[in-house]
Amino acid sequence: MPEFNPVRGMRDLLFDETKQLNLIIRHARETAKSYNFGEVTTPIVESYELVSAKSSDEIRNRMFSFQDLGNRMVALRPEFTASIARLVTTVLKKAPRPIRLFSVGSVYRYDEPQRGRYREFWQSNYELMGSNKPEADAEMILLTNYFLKTLGLQNYFFKVGHIGIVKGILNQERVDEKTQKEVLHHMDKKEYDEAFSRIKNDDLKSILQNLVEIKGDDIFVITEEMSLLVKDYGEAKNAADNLIEILRLVTKTGCPIDSIQPTFSRGLEYYTGMIFEVQVPELEISLGGGGRYDRLLELFGGISIPAVGVAHGLDRINLALQIQDVKVKDQKTKKIFVIPVDEDLKIKALTITEELRNSGLFVEFEVMGRKMGKALEYANKRKMDYVVIAGKSELKEDSVALRNLLKHEQVTVKLENLVKKIQD
Ligand code: HAM
Repeated sequence: MPEFNPVRGMRDLLFDETKQLNLIIRHARETAKSYNFGEVTTPIVESYELVSAKSSDEIRNRMFSFQDLGNRMVALRPEFTASIARLVTTVLKKAPRPIRLFSVGSVYRYDEPQRGRYREFWQSNYELMGSNKPEADAEMILLTNYFLKTLGLQNYFFKVGHIGIVKGILNQERVDEKTQKEVLHHMDKKEYDEAFSRIKNDDLKSILQNLVEIKGDDIFVITEEMSLLVKDYGEAKNAADNLIEILRLVTKTGCPIDSIQPTFSRGLEYYTGMIFEVQVPELEISLGGGGRYDRLLELFGGISIPAVGVAHGLDRINLALQIQDVKVKDQKTKKIFVIPVDEDLKIKALTITEELRNSGLFVEFEVMGRKMGKALEYANKRKMDYVVIAGKSELKEDSVALRNLLKHEQVTVKLENLVKKIQD
């Protein structure tokens, strides 16, 4: 038989790795609760048509797509946004607005595997639907800041832009949709010559060139300059002013924004407004990103619902935490091992075990029938905090022996005081 390994780009996450991922997921869930997002679970397999609509060629070409046995063209979800948009245009159509939805799980893209880039990776995803106000945009950045701050990540920084600035100029100059896509793509990759070679109009070329050249340290000076530069382009000017308003809300609330990227477009076709990414200096890849997409939902349901959202790349955040040597705070729950001293004490010991579990402790019962010495050896190896030893004489007095493995101490404790003694 050949030796089987995970498929390229896929990973097994063993004990500590799964524990760490779950810890980060717990923080993501707590963040959702803090901002009052309701959690929903959607299928990993979605219709190809749904997940490819308005994503990008990059994502469309890298989807795990196939025909199912019923001849439906399906794909493993490459992100959550399309699934959430599907929910909001169908079963949640009548839900009171705004709708705040949170999801967490694995997503799939046939990316070239390297550090921080996998084919199966985890995202925590937040979508806020029904508001076109800048406070909704601001909430996505603030939520990301809150999540990373509570995880203990250091020195992360935000890059913010607005797709409506370049798009507004191109729309007013009647540049066709296909050329717009190419121009945005090359400008995003800082391939300006490539981008400008697609534009015939010299005035248009020069305004885009001027936009690229706006630089400086003060984000408000830069954005005011952008607004002034595009003052004759109604849609672009509104976009620049909208960006200024969002930045004002975010920075006044205590979340610093480090850089404004006038020509940043994030590579997803559905964005229509503010877009952002978050990074750390130690890694050149983004840890999360999002933005406003006001036209996607009407594509699915005919109803127009403004929306803004963000997805955090949990594997990359995990990597950044490791590089920075940050230990994510765990909800400290004691681990207990229960050993019945004799065969005939099993039922009583198992009853105690269940009671401990009902009190919220993590409890393992000795199921191998080992003698005390071997069982204790195992408990030490598994780094248990306490061992509860259910012996005949103690049980007769409604007590057990409680051994603290870290302190090497053993005391006799009345059953009624056991939980309290462990938790003290
Ligand atoms: P995205 O920028 O495509 O946005 O992905 C979000 C995050 O997923 C990235 O910032 C990155 O941390 C992580 N990520 C992407 N590709 C990989 C990979 N191959 N391996 C590991 N991590 C990866 C979205 O997915 C949008 N749905 C965000 C959004 C929500 N916009 C509006 N609502």
